[in-house]
Amino acid sequence: MWSRVLVFLVVCGSARETWQLLPLPDYIHPCEELTDECFTKATMDAIPGIVQGIPEANIPPLDPLVLERNISMNLPGGVKMTFHNGKLLGLRTCVPNKVSSKREKRTFIFDITCNLTIKGRYSVNGRLLLFNLDTDGNAKIKIWNQHIRLDVVEKVVTNAKGEGHYKVNSYKFKADYGTDLKLNLTNLFRNNPVISANILDVLNANAKHVAQEMGGPILDYAIGYAMNVTQKFFDAYTYDQLSKVPLTEDFFVKEDKTDGGS
Ligand SMILES: *[C@@H]1O[C@H](CO)[C@@H](O)[C@H](O)[C@H]1NC(C)=O
Ligand SMILES: *[C@@H]1O[C@H](CO)[C@@H](O)[C@H](O)[C@H]1NC(C)=O
Ligand SMILES: *[C@@H]1O[C@H](CO)[C@@H](O)[C@H](O)[C@H]1NC(C)=O
Ligand SMILES: *[C@@H]1O[C@H](CO)[C@@H](O)[C@H](O)[C@H]1NC(C)=O
Repeated sequence: MWSRVLVFLVVCGSARETWQLLPLPDYIHPCEELTDECFTKATMDAIPGIVQGIPEANIPPLDPLVLERNISMNLPGGVKMTFHNGKLLGLRTCVPNKVSSKREKRTFIFDITCNLTIKGRYSVNGRLLLFNLDTDGNAKIKIWNQHIRLDVVEKVVTNAKGEGHYKVNSYKFKADYGTDLKLNLTNLFRNNPVISANILDVLNANAKHVAQEMGGPILDYAIGYAMNVTQKFFDAYTYDQLSKVPLTEDFFVKEDKTDGGS
């Protein structure tokens, strides 16, 4: 009888201590050491779960990733192209080649490869190749083995409860356009499928060039989105939940009360 009460008290006591912490999803495997092997494996383990979204951490599903804004680009020759109702598919296929922590620079480096498909509606206005275009249609761009290197600079901020949380300070990325690329834009020449198909062939023959012009702004958006999601993830879980490597004092930044904690 007494032992049962004791068990009850102990369970309640420990439950209260961790009351406010959101349990870490079981596919997140914190590293005990700062090695590339551990971070690469942990990233590989985390991708399939994270892309499905984490509702309790306010993280939406990422595959497909809905492009919530119109993305406009100015192609050479004064062509204005707008991409709308877009979706990015394939983040679940991303494979980390190497993930490193450069603690002295407070930087994580993600080197990843993905097979990506971008789908949506496009509209274009201007002179493309030899044609004056003023049209719209469906767009689909498929990129195989897109290589991305992403450098993320972080800090750890202690909140009012004394918990440390990562903050994304800044990031930059470099991307190539994969080993293969296929564009499909319908109705490039309004109501003329034959000419449209011909223009598309020419575009596909220059697919790398076209992808640089079009893919850049879309990738800017997608990586910006992914960084916002990363910040939500860091806000939901504490440093101690996400890392088993103790921080030195100089790593911590006290949250400035006047800063509103943004
Ligand atoms: C996005 O583009 C479409 C087609 O050009 C247009 O109808 C729509 O109003 C635009 N939306 C915004 C938010 O600009
Ligand atoms: C991309 O697709 C190709 C062909 O289907 C496959 O061989 C490759 O492993 C895939 N790469 C990634 C990063 O998923
Ligand atoms: C492009 O997509 C359309 C459907 O949206 C399809 O009918 C057509 O065959 C595709 N063209 C190419 C070259 O893949
Ligand atoms: C990411 O968040 C910033 C700041 O809240 C916002 O300005 C930006 O539009 C967001 N980016 C995307 C792609 O949602």
